[in-house]
Amino acid sequence: MAERDETLLCCIGVNSDAGFGAVMPPLYLSANYSFDGYEGKREYDYTRSGNPTRSVLADALTQLEGGAGTAITSSGMSAVDLALSLLDSGARVIAPHDCYGGTWRLLTARAKKRQVDVVFIDQSDADAVETALSAGAPALLWIETPSNPLMRVVDIEALAKRAKAVGAKVAVDNTFLSPLLQKPIALGADFVVHSTTKYLNGHSDVVGGAVIAASAEDAAQLTWWANCTGVTGAPFDCWLTLRGLRTLSVRLERQGASAAELARRLTRHEGVRRVHYPGLEAHPTHAIAAKQQAGFGAMLSFEIAAPAATAAPAFVRAIKRFTLAESLGGVESLVAHPATMTHASMSAEARVKAGFDDSLFRLSIGLEHVEDLWADLSAALDATRPAGGFK
Ligand SMILES: Cc1ncc(COP(=O)(O)O)c(C=O)c1O
Repeated sequence: MAERDETLLCCIGVNSDAGFGAVMPPLYLSANYSFDGYEGKREYDYTRSGNPTRSVLADALTQLEGGAGTAITSSGMSAVDLALSLLDSGARVIAPHDCYGGTWRLLTARAKKRQVDVVFIDQSDADAVETALSAGAPALLWIETPSNPLMRVVDIEALAKRAKAVGAKVAVDNTFLSPLLQKPIALGADFVVHSTTKYLNGHSDVVGGAVIAASAEDAAQLTWWANCTGVTGAPFDCWLTLRGLRTLSVRLERQGASAAELARRLTRHEGVRRVHYPGLEAHPTHAIAAKQQAGFGAMLSFEIAAPAATAAPAFVRAIKRFTLAESLGGVESLVAHPATMTHASMSAEARVKAGFDDSLFRLSIGLEHVEDLWADLSAALDATRPAGGFK
C-alpha cells in the first residue's frame, strides 16, 4: 500500500546521500558539476537545468500531487507562466474571473500581445462554462479553487470532464489548499500549479513556485521549457521549501482547526455581516468543498457590519496580533483588506461584480493560540462599533 502523505512529507530524500550518509538531503549550492572525463556527463551538469536539492523537492511534490513530474520555479508567477509556455501561440485560455490578480494580469498582458486568447468567466455558472468551451477550440481551462477573496469553490471533476470533451487541457492552481487537502490530478487535471511561497514553504521566507504534470510527456515539456527560459528555482530556496514542507500536515491541521473555530465565532459577532469560509454549512459552495477537499483550509474572509468608510480603518488601527500584509499560508496570522491591497488593481465596479467591496477583510490563519487570535479579532471588531451601535 502506498504510504500516506504525512509519512512522505517527513521521509522524502531522507538518508539518500551517497557521499557521507547525511540523514537530511544536503544543500547543493554549486552552479556547475564536473564531467567525469571525455563524454562523462554525470546526472547533473549545470544548476539551471538540474540540481540535486531541487530534485528532492520536485520528487516530493510529484508524489504528493500524484503526477508524473514537476518543474520547480523561482516564483508562483513563473510557474503560471511556465504552464502557459506549453501553449501554441494564440491558443484560447478560459480562466475564472475571480482568479489571483497576478494571474489575471499575466493572462491579460499576454493576450494584449496576442500570445494567448483569454476569456474570463464565472466558472460556477454552468451556462457560462458551456458557452466558453463551445467557442474557439479552447486549449486550456484554468481553474483556481477556492477563489480569492471569497473562497468560492468550483467542482474540478465536473469542469475537467467538460473541458476534456472539447479537447482542452486543465490546469488547477492549488495554492490555497496544498496537495494534502486537494488532489486535482485525481479529479482530472493535467497540470497543478503552486505558489510554494504559501503553505508548502509555510514560513513566509521564500518566494517560489511549481508546476506538476499528470503525464510524463507534459512533465518533460515543462522541464525543457523551465531550463530553456531559466525560471528554475534556486537551490537554497528549494532547500528551505523542503524544510518547510516537512511540517505541512501538522501546520495545516492546526491552522485549519483555528480557522474553522474563528469562522464560527465571527458569524456570531454583531460587528460582522457575513463570513466566507467553505467549512461553514451556510457557505454557498460548502457541499462541493466537502466532496472534493480533505479539509476546508485556513483562509477565510468576512464583511464588517458597520459602514466601511470609517469602520474599515478603525478595524485596521485596532488589530494587533494579525499583521496587515498580503500573501498567506505562513505560521503567522495575516489580515488583508482586498479592496486596497490584494485586489487594488481591480476597478471598484469589477470588485462589486466579483461580489465584494470595502467592507471585506481576508484572514490567513497561522499557528498562534486560537484564543489569542479571537481576543485580537473581537477587540478590533468592537472598535468598529458606530456611535448608535451595530444595526
Ligand atoms: C493563488 C495564487 N497563485 C499564484 C500566486 C503567485 O505566487 P508568487 O507570489 O509566489 O509569484 C499567488 C500569490 O499570491 C496566489 O495567491
